[in-house]
Amino acid sequence: MLSGIQPTSDSFHLGNYLGAVRNWVLMQQTHDCYYCVVDLHAITAGHDPETLRRRTRVSAAQLLAVGIDPEASTLFVQSHVPEHAQLAWVFSCITGFGEASRMTQFKDKSAKGGVDRSSVGLFTYPILQAADILLYQADAVPVGEDQRQHVELSRDLAQRFNSTFGQVFTVPKPYIVRESAKIYDLQNPTAKMSKSASSPNGVIDLLDEPNRSAKKIRSAVTDTGREVVFDQENKPGVSNLLTIYSALTGRTIDELTTAYEGKGYGDLKKDLGAVVADFVAPIQKATQGYLDDPAELDRVLAIGAAKARSVASATLAAAYDRIGFLPAA
Ligand code: TYM
Repeated sequence: MLSGIQPTSDSFHLGNYLGAVRNWVLMQQTHDCYYCVVDLHAITAGHDPETLRRRTRVSAAQLLAVGIDPEASTLFVQSHVPEHAQLAWVFSCITGFGEASRMTQFKDKSAKGGVDRSSVGLFTYPILQAADILLYQADAVPVGEDQRQHVELSRDLAQRFNSTFGQVFTVPKPYIVRESAKIYDLQNPTAKMSKSASSPNGVIDLLDEPNRSAKKIRSAVTDTGREVVFDQENKPGVSNLLTIYSALTGRTIDELTTAYEGKGYGDLKKDLGAVVADFVAPIQKATQGYLDDPAELDRVLAIGAAKARSVASATLAAAYDRIGFLPAA
């Protein structure tokens, strides 16, 4: 399996962790795993070079801190493996312009500044993502709900390539765990928690100071009712808090609603703040440990890149051959 995360913020948020990264950690026991910090994707919407370098390291450090084991899995940085950009070019030549135009994430992201001001890279972003996935012959791609359409595109491209030029690629499936596939913004609980949220108060970062997270949870938007019950439609705020609580503790939603019978939203929020603080403390400590030793972090990433390249280069060579490129002597 393969999955990726963009180094576009100084910390992953709870949506990234509960929607995707938590499953990455679990799947190490059952799958041959490739995890990629997708820095090529991170330059599609404008960036600052020093910030990108810092965030790429912070992202890798956080992945190690939450439990990605570089001995068991392959952890690497996308730009260290040039085959991603090479295969993306091939796929861009078998993707229809209309097909790429229908990607909802492009439509959303380009709506802000207007299509004319968006980069071509933002437009072809899902094609690069398909290359990430297909280079490793991944059959499972653990992601949050917002990435489903991109994984569907990679399925279509794998099938199209195989039927046009001959079998090269495994056709992947998204691996989405329903309960935590979409974590919502605390201030706007019908929108997904996102790195680009309009207010930082709606987003719980793993590296946030625990008091700050507790405060954000205390001021989370709920509703005028009193009862702690799960009702996505009518009580999206409370339901989101329950989802997060359940995912972090392993207690079912039913158990939680029974435990909070007769109590109010304030109790739920206070307790969830403590749960989050306990959860992030060891992650923060471990992340700092990896950041304090950049030489060791770079060594781990170099080993990961070499392992990734050995697989990616074989896939790319097979694809180049089927397309009809002359072998380089
Ligand atoms: P990115 O960096 O935006 O997010 C990383 C992962 O976190 C998930 N996620 C969420 N899950 C639940 N609730 C949320 N509020 C939430 N917000 C984010 C995302 O679904 C994702 O799984 N295009 C990808 C990166 C990528 C990739 C890949 C993923 C590049 N190449 C190949 C899989 C395979 C992205 O922008 O993720």
